[in-house]
Amino acid sequence: MRRAIELAARGLGTTSPNPVVGCVLLDADGEVVGEGFHAYAGGPHAEIVALAQAGHRAKGGTAVVTLEPCDHTGRTGPCSLALVQAGVARVVIAVPDPNPVATGGAATLRAAGIQVDLGVRGAEAENGNVAWLTAMRRGWPYVIWKFAATLDGRSAAADGTSMWITSEAARMDVHALRATVDAVVVGVGTVLADDPRLTVRNLRDGSLAIRQPLRVVVDSAGRTPADAQVRDGAAATWIATAAEVGTGPDGGVDLPALMAALQVRGVRAVLLEGGPRLAGAFLAAGLVDRVVGYLAPRLLGAGPAALVDAGVSTIAEAIDLEVTDVTQIGPDLRIAALPRKREG
Ligand SMILES: NC(=O)c1ccc[n+]([C@@H]2O[C@H](COP(=O)([O-])OP(=O)(O)OC[C@H]3O[C@@H](n4cnc5c(N)ncnc54)[C@H](OP(=O)(O)O)[C@@H]3O)[C@@H](O)[C@H]2O)c1
Repeated sequence: MRRAIELAARGLGTTSPNPVVGCVLLDADGEVVGEGFHAYAGGPHAEIVALAQAGHRAKGGTAVVTLEPCDHTGRTGPCSLALVQAGVARVVIAVPDPNPVATGGAATLRAAGIQVDLGVRGAEAENGNVAWLTAMRRGWPYVIWKFAATLDGRSAAADGTSMWITSEAARMDVHALRATVDAVVVGVGTVLADDPRLTVRNLRDGSLAIRQPLRVVVDSAGRTPADAQVRDGAAATWIATAAEVGTGPDGGVDLPALMAALQVRGVRAVLLEGGPRLAGAFLAAGLVDRVVGYLAPRLLGAGPAALVDAGVSTIAEAIDLEVTDVTQIGPDLRIAALPRKREG
């Protein structure tokens, strides 16, 4: 299963609106005879790739798969049936499929007399598919808020300049993170201040990745300039206005409605890239699932804060985080953390 989880991760960022899935096939003697992962929506599922490699050697063998095999015909046929037809004796599954359309694979396999073991390395596999599983279970995308700040928490200098707070190594890391999501979201304030491109690029030669996340500008009144770089055609862009999405209680774009609209568009993982005001509104609305902060070993002493108006006015209301990872990237620190769920 550890190997199947590794394989699944190769699909991160390219399978939307589908999950990442990995599969390892063992023959009746326990030898690995096939491996596969789901690479893109509409393409073969992990089980089908592994079965094709294994051929007749799958008969009497074991399929180890990170997500319950699908039981329906979508753009491809049901994997449950393919496993039955291949004659596997046992299927080991990490996580049940929460998608009401595709679930039922385990029951179909059992009905065909196949031994099914569910929940093997479940927590690890959940972790590898956390955005898709979270989005499917609750109906709106998983949101990672990413920001860069100086050690004294400034997101820009006093004169407004903020490019570049962190090192090239940290910025390359951000591009790798962007490549794993389906949409990148910023507020119109960031577009007006920085005119970012928000594409996934090779920072050395500027070349664009083949697959680009949707670029979303949260822009109540449609102030995004006609010549803004986010409109350059290098990737799909949605200027999400209040007229289209709806108006929230603070007069800006209705953020829960925005999330629901993104889910309908097939977005499961969102990278919220600021700025401080939009990030504050997302946090105040409880819409952030993970925080990734890049802290540069620099001090500014003046300039805007990394976060504004997150609905906190006293220390008891602070949004507590559980740090899950600290990694040094070039001279900078990358800190990943999960907001602790608030009570009540
Ligand atoms: N260091 C970093 O990681 C980082 C990242 C990004 C930006 N920045 C810096 O941040 C600065 C810009 O900050 P900012 O706070 O003005 O930009 P922002 O957060 O990108 O944009 C805020 C704007 O978004 C619009 N908006 C629409 N719906 C909203 C809602 N529900 N809640 C909140 N905002 C909503 C509002 O404008 P309308 O009312 O017109 O819609 C609001 O003024 C720049 O200096 C930029 O360089 C730093």
